[in-house]
Amino acid sequence: MYESEQVWRDVDRYFVDMLVAEDRALAAARRSSAETTMPQTEVAANQGKLLALLVGMVGARRVLEFGTLAGYSTIWLARAVGRGGTVTTLEREVQNAAVARRNLERAGVADRVEVIVGPAQESAEQLIRVGADPFDLVFIDADKPNNLAYLRATMELTRPGAVIVIDNVVRNGAVLAEDSADPRVHGVRTVMAEIAADDRLDATTLQTVGLKGWDGFTLAHRLG
Ligand code: DHB
Ligand code: MG
Repeated sequence: MYESEQVWRDVDRYFVDMLVAEDRALAAARRSSAETTMPQTEVAANQGKLLALLVGMVGARRVLEFGTLAGYSTIWLARAVGRGGTVTTLEREVQNAAVARRNLERAGVADRVEVIVGPAQESAEQLIRVGADPFDLVFIDADKPNNLAYLRATMELTRPGAVIVIDNVVRNGAVLAEDSADPRVHGVRTVMAEIAADDRLDATTLQTVGLKGWDGFTLAHRLG
């Protein structure tokens, strides 16, 4: 019983009920993920809360997100940066960006979020070209094959002190498949190797179980 996915879900629900207030705007954003190209891939409520806590703990004012989808995590981030803060979020699909903008309006944070539509790598390169002010926290949660490109762009768009979170790095243990033909696994393994080799970055990865099954995230601190 204690190893079943049903128990993982029930435990998530218990802690979410105890500690994580998901208001109507967040609940609506979660439901609307069904209207996106990737239903139900938004973060769980307790993971959204973790992002918000990190923003608060480091006092992040400028947040960058790779992968908007319906804007569920974007709402958590945008609320956490507060009125003076901003979130820039990159979304490839026009349809998803439209869903996200409605959700951000409903949540009352549309004025502090910029949704940039297009391939995230191109959008990030454009931010680098125009000399965007450095971001304090970056959440990488877009197409997994491009994780390495997103990390490299992140290093151009941040300064020492920045916090970087990378979602979905475990995927039911698929990460162990060294010679995997799956470009998503390759995307995780190459970004891990880059982090390990870059002495500007200090990092750890935690596995998670819960409403989203068995997965995990990497948390990195830019030191230099
Ligand atoms: C997938 C992507 C995500 O960001 C996620 O949280 C879960 C699944 C996917 O590509 O299937
Ligand atoms: Mg994800």
